[in-house]
Amino acid sequence: MQTVAQTLREHRSIRQFKPDEIPQSIIDEVLHEAVTGTSSSGNLNSYSMVLTRDPVRKRQMYKLHGEQEFILQAPLVITFCADWYRTRQWLKLRGARDNFNNFLGYQVAANETMLISQSVTLGFEARGYGICYMGSTLHAMQEIAEQLGLPETCLPITTIVVGVPDERPERRERLPTRSFVHDETYQKPNTSELEDMYQAREESGWERYMAVPRLKAMCDEGGITSLAQMYTSPYKYDPDHYVPKSLQILEVLQQRGFLPSKLSLTQTEE
Ligand SMILES: Cc1cc2nc3c(=O)[nH]c(=O)nc-3n(C[C@H](O)[C@H](O)[C@H](O)COP(=O)(O)O)c2cc1C
Repeated sequence: MQTVAQTLREHRSIRQFKPDEIPQSIIDEVLHEAVTGTSSSGNLNSYSMVLTRDPVRKRQMYKLHGEQEFILQAPLVITFCADWYRTRQWLKLRGARDNFNNFLGYQVAANETMLISQSVTLGFEARGYGICYMGSTLHAMQEIAEQLGLPETCLPITTIVVGVPDERPERRERLPTRSFVHDETYQKPNTSELEDMYQAREESGWERYMAVPRLKAMCDEGGITSLAQMYTSPYKYDPDHYVPKSLQILEVLQQRGFLPSKLSLTQTEE
């Protein structure tokens, strides 16, 4: 098995998988190691992991996740959920005061959920399996919650697919590490520092998009001439979609008991 450093150096998201199943013993080992080896706020372990392997359910997940093909290929899909249901049931059983059905509870559980998802990721990757996260989870929170039968104060935060890689993509570049590191206090980058940080990324990212005929045609049509413009265009992270989606997510939090029902969640005109 690889060390953590080797695993991180080898990481790349995998989007093509062989049909090989993952032995149950490996799944059990990875999940056990992740649960027992990940820090946890108050050691309350406010998450759950739902495993999807059944082909019919996988197809439903595929639909909910924007029809990303690799979901159908990968033998295992894991939905990581912020979950206070189990803890709250235990509190009730013992006559303790209820808690965590509030926004702070949601925030704590969502953080824990991301921590456990990355521990599980490293466990699989260290054994040579490939994974890809699916941000689409947040866009279909309510539907996924219904699909998986999640109870009150339990919501999906992220999802990974896992399997034997059938590709070895190039490593994706990152901004230079110094872009993320601040000594003692936050150093706002000036224009020339921004130019410097983003130059390589802009060139390689743009090249990658332009190599895909469908994306190139969309950019030509939409007058999109740079990577930054692409990122917030209607084809990627569209602000016109993010604003109403944010309100929908708040509504889901309300319905699932993480926000008070008396809170008004209407969009105000600017
Ligand atoms: C929270 C999260 C959500 C992501 N969602 C998706 C997704 O929906 N589809 C996808 O193909 N990749 C997704 N990715 C993978 C990223 O695109 C990928 O990590 C990034 O481009 C860097 O590439 P690398 O992981 O190969 O280093 C996601 C990654 C994270 C961390």
